[in-house]
Amino acid sequence: MRKGVIIPAAGRGRRMGGRKKQFLCLGGKTVLEHTLTVFLNHLEIAELVVVLPAEDLGEAYELLTPFLKQWGFVGSTFASFVTSDGKRQLQLVPGGRERQDSVFHGLEALKDRVELVVVHDAARPFVTRELLDRVVRTAAEKGAATAAVPVADTVVTVEDNNRAGEFLPRSSLRAVQTPQAFHFSLLWKAHLKARREGYYGTDDAGLVVRAGHPVYLVEGDPGNFKITTPIDLKKGEALLEGKKKVLVGMGYDVHRLVEGRKLVLGGVEIPYSHGLLGHSDADVLLHALCDALLGAVGAGDIGRYFPDTDPSLRGISSLVLLERTVALVQEKGFRVQNADVTVVAQAPRVGPYVEEMRTNIARVLGVETDRVNIKATTTEKLGFAGRGEGIAAYAVVTVTEV
Ligand code: CTP
Ligand code: MG
Repeated sequence: MRKGVIIPAAGRGRRMGGRKKQFLCLGGKTVLEHTLTVFLNHLEIAELVVVLPAEDLGEAYELLTPFLKQWGFVGSTFASFVTSDGKRQLQLVPGGRERQDSVFHGLEALKDRVELVVVHDAARPFVTRELLDRVVRTAAEKGAATAAVPVADTVVTVEDNNRAGEFLPRSSLRAVQTPQAFHFSLLWKAHLKARREGYYGTDDAGLVVRAGHPVYLVEGDPGNFKITTPIDLKKGEALLEGKKKVLVGMGYDVHRLVEGRKLVLGGVEIPYSHGLLGHSDADVLLHALCDALLGAVGAGDIGRYFPDTDPSLRGISSLVLLERTVALVQEKGFRVQNADVTVVAQAPRVGPYVEEMRTNIARVLGVETDRVNIKATTTEKLGFAGRGEGIAAYAVVTVTEV
């Protein structure tokens, strides 16, 4: 069955204080873009119609042009986009006074183009592919389906003077969501009947039932709530925050101890008979840390960015390298959360310098000192570190998506 979707996005957001919800920003993207993404990623949905306030069509066209490129859509005529292979189309259509009018305009735009139509509110950006597939599958089989969830609150009718009327049995009640899906002809006829009779309902499933066809309830998703009032926007932000990626990186480095060099660890010069050999200041601790950061964001290793053949890096403080690495992490869209480092050295004793190192590193990472942990260990005189031939360092970091 050829499938299409109508996304009603022509509301005025009265309960949001007159702010059009579809264009509000949620985690760096508009609510409309979040919603559209789920349908654009569903390649079986060949026809997309976004119904918008007439006065916003031009601006929406501008907003969506770069966004839709990711799925291979290019503008064809004013208010319509097609993919380069010509297989998918997205139209922008002006809405009507009520949501029902807006959906009807969408149906007109899809007439004779699809056999199955999904209707999904722009204001429900947390719809998932799984829920969409459940609704589509049931509608394909039975003609009409909608997502619905059990009601958490007791529901009561309101009589005069705010007197409670009938308390309805919760087990037989459901709250209706979108997506809803229908054989196109079924929804088309239900809308025509409602228009003829001047009837206005709150959703499409209701119109189909009113036209005498059964609509089947599919288990909805409490996360698929409709952004209606300002508190819903806060809820949405919190939900997105929880979905942000957390990445971990590890780093390891070793430098040889030689006479006639300064010993620098964690950006602190430590008085000692030997120092670490290297092209830069050879701060093995910070090198391990840089590698951990690069590892976390999948950016290779320190040698790729700061090769020891680069004359401008000769003798450079590794705090500068750390600064540049942190900038790279930020460019990739991440923020450092914490770092844990172990220095492996038989001598000198590192303990007395740990606080100063933590302060140096925390400043460059842009975190509280508590988020930087530095430990030192000997190897009981075993191995190269135990014999005092070199110092090793291990680092682990976490970064989170901004
Ligand atoms: N909608 C529409 N055309 C209308 C009214 C609503 O396309 N004339 C869309 C909204 O943009 C929204 C969905 O239908 O995506 C659900 O409507 P609702 O949550 O009521 O949004 P608004 O009408 O914008 O909000 P309000 O009722 O608070 O004004
Ligand atoms: Mg409304």
